[in-house]
Amino acid sequence: MTLLSTRRFLQIAGLSAAALLLAACGKKEAPPAPPAPAAVASAPAPTPAKVYVVGTDAAYAPFESQNEKGEIVGFDMEVVQAVAAKAGFEVKLVNTPWEGIFKALEQGDRDIVVSAVTITPERKQTLDFSEPYFDAQQLIAVGEKSKVTKFADLKKLKVGVQTGTTGDEAVSKLLGKTSANIKRFEGTPLALKELESGGVDAVVADNGVVINYLANNPGGKFKSISDKEFAPEQYGMAVKKGNAELLAKINKGLADIKADGSYDKIYTKYFGAPPAAAAAAPAPAASK
Ligand code: ARG
Repeated sequence: MTLLSTRRFLQIAGLSAAALLLAACGKKEAPPAPPAPAAVASAPAPTPAKVYVVGTDAAYAPFESQNEKGEIVGFDMEVVQAVAAKAGFEVKLVNTPWEGIFKALEQGDRDIVVSAVTITPERKQTLDFSEPYFDAQQLIAVGEKSKVTKFADLKKLKVGVQTGTTGDEAVSKLLGKTSANIKRFEGTPLALKELESGGVDAVVADNGVVINYLANNPGGKFKSISDKEFAPEQYGMAVKKGNAELLAKINKGLADIKADGSYDKIYTKYFGAPPAAAAAAPAPAASK
């Protein structure tokens, strides 16, 4: 009898405790199903998000640069972070010299290169690229008094470029790869410094970077010259050749941030307006 009523008491107490609990979570969704008994003892902690190492040459504002605190910031960084958040992975940003940046992918020192990298047929032979995420074009920076009006005018001038960039390629074509008039620099800021000191007559680099440079050098000492001769370019995120799994995650994340407006938000933050409608459709250059 005593035993029975104790058990009964416990039953009732148990029930009301459960009722209280249910009432407490009344506003939320149904409580999560209890874990399957077999899983309880050995349940692994939820798998932490995978961390991918992103290599970037962080001397390329507004795409990638270091702030006063030494953090790597910029358009590219915000895009890859947004992509990662959507695709469920984390990124560790690591400043990486442009020269050797693709080697670092091959060697597994970096998982993704996000560095305003133009998708080119040549690079595609050794790397895999995400879908394009930015339209770009070469732009010429010259002194305000320069007589240069078009790319061909650079033929007899001293031109600064960042080694191994598409700017280097374009100028190499015009002047000849071995021309002594091409001054190659490890970084685009160094080439621009050389323009300031008069060591070169012009610099050819990505439009976004040249425009940013002019905007940050008030006083109108420099101007930019565009030319339709320059082929349209598109930036992609690069992974080691064959890394289809990571590439799929990146492309999914990119599609998601384009679809939900977060890409446009980042773009507008850096470039003052959302990308032109035409830029949203892959330009023919994507498959060049
Ligand atoms: N878009 C050009 C290229 O792919 C220049 C990229 C340079 N990027 C950088 N972070 N320095 O060749």
